[in-house]
Amino acid sequence: MGEARKPLISGNWKMNHNHFEAIQMVQKLSYLLSVNDYDAVDVSVHPPFTDLRSVQTVLQADEVPILLGAQHCHWEAGGAFTGEVAPSMLAKLNVSLVIVGHSERRELSGETDEAVNRKVRAVIANDMTPIMCCGETLGEREAGTTDSKVSGQVREGLAGLSAGQVGSLVIAYEPIWAIGTGLMATPEDAQAVCATIRQVVRSDWGGEAADAVRIQYGGSVKPVSAPDLMRQPDIDGALVGGASLDPDEFARIIAYRLVG
Ligand code: PGA
Repeated sequence: MGEARKPLISGNWKMNHNHFEAIQMVQKLSYLLSVNDYDAVDVSVHPPFTDLRSVQTVLQADEVPILLGAQHCHWEAGGAFTGEVAPSMLAKLNVSLVIVGHSERRELSGETDEAVNRKVRAVIANDMTPIMCCGETLGEREAGTTDSKVSGQVREGLAGLSAGQVGSLVIAYEPIWAIGTGLMATPEDAQAVCATIRQVVRSDWGGEAADAVRIQYGGSVKPVSAPDLMRQPDIDGALVGGASLDPDEFARIIAYRLVG
């Protein structure tokens, strides 16, 4: 199990860095990464919408193999949706990965599992890869309902997809209490939930999809914690917020495999 899954380390910049800063960030990151890094790990950055075109231009001009990602999109192809961005607009900018259902959007913008499902389908329909987020609150963890919460989010978020579609997307397990707090699930706890997620995929979409789907852990990942997390058999990458804002720190996370 797992041999074929290339790790994916993604930097979710959230609402940080204007387009000038974004250009500097990716340039600096590209100087810190080598061919060996890109061979071993897929790397993506997810800047705010206003930065995408600038970052795309830098990546293309300098032939940097960092994948361009977005943090969110609408499911509709176009129309009267003030403030929203259609998936096809992202695809046109060479965006290849779109975060869907981040807990901050679920909480701040009231994104439901049904909306997440529509977005996941729309992203796939536009030949991009969704990173579908799931995770429990502290209260849910303490009440022992982590597995049922996360399993439900996975089943509803991915409802109606084929085994092939599920096998080629990314699921990010992000315990809400660990996001931006400095608190982290232990590698063993994170592994246990990621194993549950893979089991849900196995039972609903079959073994091939379960073996192929990439599962990231997210929530206060730092250079010091990345190696132990990435050693876990069901953790195939990291969705990194705060530590991805600093290219040095992010590059050290990407270099997790070089640490003892
Ligand atoms: P964090 O954010 O690394 O700052 O905890 C992770 C995320 O929300 O994707």
